[in-house]
This record gives sequence, structure tokens and C-alpha cells, in this order.
Amino acid sequence: MVGTMDLLTLLFLLLLNIVGICNGGVTSRYVRKAEPSVDMPLDAFPPPPGFNAPEQVHITQGDHDGRSVIVSWVTPDEKYPNVVTHWEANSKRKHKTHSIIKTYRYFNYSSGYIHHATIKRLKYDTKYFYQLGSGNATRRFHFTTPPKVGPDVPYTFGIIGDLGQTYDSNQTFEHYVSNPEGQAVLFVGDLSCADDHPQHDNRRWDSWGRFVEKSTAYQAWIWVPGNHELDYAPEIGENVPFKPYTHRYHVPYRASQSTCPLWYSIKRASAYIIVLSSYSAYGKYTPQYAWLEKELPKVNRAETPWLIVLLHSPWYNSNSYHYMEGESMRVAFESWFVQHKVDLVVAGHVHSYERTNRFSDVQYNITNRLSTPVKDPSAPVYLTIGDGGNIEGLADRFTEPQPSYSAYREASFGHAMLDIKNRTHAHFTWHRNHDNEAVVADSQWLFNRYWYPEEEHC
Ligand SMILES: *[C@@H]1O[C@H](CO)[C@@H](O)[C@H](O)[C@H]1NC(C)=O
Ligand SMILES: *[C@@H]1O[C@H](CO)[C@@H](O)[C@H](O)[C@H]1NC(C)=O
Ligand SMILES: *[C@@H]1O[C@H](CO)[C@@H](O)[C@H](O)[C@H]1NC(C)=O
Ligand SMILES: *[C@@H]1O[C@H](CO)[C@@H](O)[C@H](O)[C@H]1NC(C)=O
Ligand SMILES: *[C@@H]1O[C@H](CO)[C@@H](O)[C@H](O)[C@H]1NC(C)=O
Ligand SMILES: [Fe+2]
Repeated sequence: MVGTMDLLTLLFLLLLNIVGICNGGVTSRYVRKAEPSVDMPLDAFPPPPGFNAPEQVHITQGDHDGRSVIVSWVTPDEKYPNVVTHWEANSKRKHKTHSIIKTYRYFNYSSGYIHHATIKRLKYDTKYFYQLGSGNATRRFHFTTPPKVGPDVPYTFGIIGDLGQTYDSNQTFEHYVSNPEGQAVLFVGDLSCADDHPQHDNRRWDSWGRFVEKSTAYQAWIWVPGNHELDYAPEIGENVPFKPYTHRYHVPYRASQSTCPLWYSIKRASAYIIVLSSYSAYGKYTPQYAWLEKELPKVNRAETPWLIVLLHSPWYNSNSYHYMEGESMRVAFESWFVQHKVDLVVAGHVHSYERTNRFSDVQYNITNRLSTPVKDPSAPVYLTIGDGGNIEGLADRFTEPQPSYSAYREASFGHAMLDIKNRTHAHFTWHRNHDNEAVVADSQWLFNRYWYPEEEHC
């Protein structure tokens, strides 16, 4: 009997050891050269030549399933032409779609004419060209629509957060662009960071639009609102939150029965992507809460196995920067994420990189006071990828000791890739700027929570 106990104890200790090795969180010792993040000059990416030439071109998914594309651009001088012409790569038949035109004022800034045109009824998995402008200011671009939604459709997403427009941002962006694998970008908020300039200098929204055009004009970027999108500044008479962001970046929120562009969902290939707003009300009875409550049961994992949530302010983050800012939203929604077996939650905001093990903290109630995160195979992996390079610099003060939920953390700029292979497997990699694109600083095979809820190897 005693012998058996000893054996069991030994086995238990061995197991602990293995688990310990597996989850013994890594705080990378990589030390990035400390240099300030400085914004690139306003004219680093000058407007294209030609009178009234369309600029800041960007596309995003335009419906729930991926057969529509919203094309957005700015004409600086005149409203017209407000047309996008598109054609299939192997066809001469051209189609025209008219844009709706928005303008706005912010403090003493007046925007150009911001166009949004939704091209509908496209074919899946097809290359299209599109053309904007007229005369010698004509510009031509192309995109490829996603494959038809289905459970084993492979698809590769780039993941970028908190990009801003510093020289570091340029490095992150160029690094991502140099990776030929990325088919669309999950952008987890904080776009231009114009609000870091006096009176939120909105020319910085324009310069950002030109900076990222060489990717955003060619592949869909899926947008998530961050705190730098708020542009809430009553002291200068600007008291409408999200004004520049919502005028410039349109998303297909109505297609998912959302009543607000700040939260919505799309299906793309084998992924179901839910976008939440950390800076909109989410308590019980609020529109966002009511929407998410109805949304999660709609996800059909037989059609879209990969359930991914994007939001700006992380729930699991062991950095002292922005520590616990995401806590009240975690309390509101985490039990739903565990119940519905969300695969992955991607956040930004904290300017460093962190990946968690599958942990949850959902037992707590006001009488039992159980508030320690515990290992939970139904919990998502949480990624914090606010390390795009914005002007506020790196968040390099991690809390010690590293909590058990934290698998890997490092204060370096970079981006990530999510390579979905089939319904069971996806490969995640994180690429720091100071390495070549081919170098992977952190990686993890993710096993689908619905089809293959096994513990991931490390
Ligand atoms: C807006 O105001 C700022 C600061 O007062 C000033 O520097 C800038 O020239 C003004 N811009 C316009 C377009 O009036
Ligand atoms: C572009 O066309 C406009 C009028 O059509 C003309 O005034 C202008 O000189 C042209 N610019 C160039 C660079 O050819
Ligand atoms: C951005 O990066 C690219 C590629 O490294 C480089 O050619 C370009 O000069 C950079 N732009 C600025 C403004 O630094
Ligand atoms: C609080 O949690 C405990 C166990 O975790 C449970 O027995 C109890 O019913 C809960 N209280 C309420 C009010 O839900
Ligand atoms: C899914 O992809 C993984 C990784 O590429 C592979 O090992 C596995 O065999 C695939 N499963 C199926 C059913 O093809
Ligand atoms: Fe942020």
C-alpha cells in the first residue's frame, strides 16, 4: 500500500515536473536597443501625383460571408469621380460601383472627401482588379476574395496591433508586408495615434492612411476600435467619440445584426471572427452585451471551426502597463467565452507581446471569492500584440513572478501570423522586428477547442 502511494507520489511529482516545464512561463531575456519611437514626418508618404488623386485606399470585408468588399479612399480636392471600377483578373467585363461620401471637421481640420463603396456579389477565391480616379490621376489595385466559408479551408491571417506611424511602425509594417503568406490582417486597434499630437492633428489620420496603403489597398484589414480611435476631446469642442475613425473606416456591422460599427462579426474561410469594443458600454442590458449574448450561440463550428475574438484592451496581461484595464470586460464576458469554447482572443493596447496558456477565472462570485486563474481546457489562448511600434514606446515592466497563465512575454516590437491549416490545427508565430521575417521568436500549434480539444504541446 505504502509502496503504491510512493509510486503515485513519484508519478505525480513527475507529472508536475512535466507540466512545470511545459507551462513554466518564459520572460524573454531579449533586450531591445532602447531608442525613442519618433513619428515619421507628415510628408514621409506624400499624396500620389495628379489632381484630386485618390489616396489612403483601403479595403475590408463587406458582408458576413466574404463575397463583398468595402473599398474606401479619399479624394483631397473634389467629390467626384465617386466610382470604383472593378473586373475579374481574367475578364474584360468591367463593373462600376458608386461610393457614399463622408466629410467631417475636427477642431480646425477639414477632411477630404472620404469614399466608401461596397462591391457586392463577387466570386469566392478570385482575383479582381479595381480602379479609382480619372485622367492622369487614375490608380489601379487588386485583391483576392477569400475562399468559400467551410470547415477545412486553410487561411493565413496577419495580426498587427497599435501600429501608429513611427519609424518602428514602418519596420513592423514592412516586416509584415515582406511575408508573402498573409491573406488578410486582423488589426486589433490603435491605428494612426493622431491624438498623440496637439489638437489630435487629424492630418495624422491622412498620413497613416497613406503609410499603410501598400497593404490595405490589396488585402482586407479587419478593424477593431482602440482607445486612440476615441478622439474624445471636449476641451477643444470634440465630444463625439470615434468621429474620425467611424468616418474613415467602414465595417459590415449590419450584416451581423449589430447596431454599431464598433462591434460586429464576420466569417472568413474557416474562421468566425467577433470584434468587440473595449470602449463602448458592455454591462448587462447594453447594446453590445445584448448583441454578443445572441451572437455566440449563432456560431456553427461545423461551418467555421475557428472562433476568434478581437478586442483592444487585454484581459490577461502581466505587464504593469494598462494593468487590469480589461478586467471589467473579462468579468462581464469570460464565462461565455469558456462556455462557447472560443479558440483565441487577440488584444493590443499593451506595447509588448504576451501569449497565455489556456486558463480561466470564472468561478468567482461575491460569496465564494474564488479568484485565482486556473488551467481550463475550454478557455481561449489570449494574445497581447500591442507591439506595432507606436509613439508611446515599449511596455517593458512585466510583473514578477510571471503568473502561471503567462506562457511567453517579451517587450519587443513585432507582428504575428495565424496559419489555419484545417478544422483541428492552426499554427501561430510571432515575429520580432529585429529579426528577419523568417525567424520566429515564439510559436505555438493551436488545437481547435471544438474539434480537437487536446492540450497543446509546447
Ligand atoms: C489649427 O490650429 C493649430 C494650433 O492652433 C495651428 O497650428 C494650425 O495651423 C491650424 N490649422 C488650420 C488648418 O487652421
Ligand atoms: C494632369 O491632367 C490635368 C488636367 O487633365 C493637367 O492640367 C495636368 O497638367 C496633368 N498633370 C500631369 C502631371 O500630367
Ligand atoms: C520605411 O521602410 C522602408 C523599407 O525598409 C524604407 O524603404 C522606407 O524608407 C521607410 N520609410 C521611412 C519614412 O523611414
Ligand atoms: C457562488 O459559488 C458557489 C460555488 O462556487 C456556489 O455554490 C454558490 O451558489 C454561488 N452563489 C451564487 C449566488 O450564485
Ligand atoms: C490538419 O493539419 C495538421 C497540421 O498540418 C495535420 O497534421 C493533420 O493531419 C491535418 N488533419 C487532417 C484531417 O487533414
Ligand atoms: Fe491602446
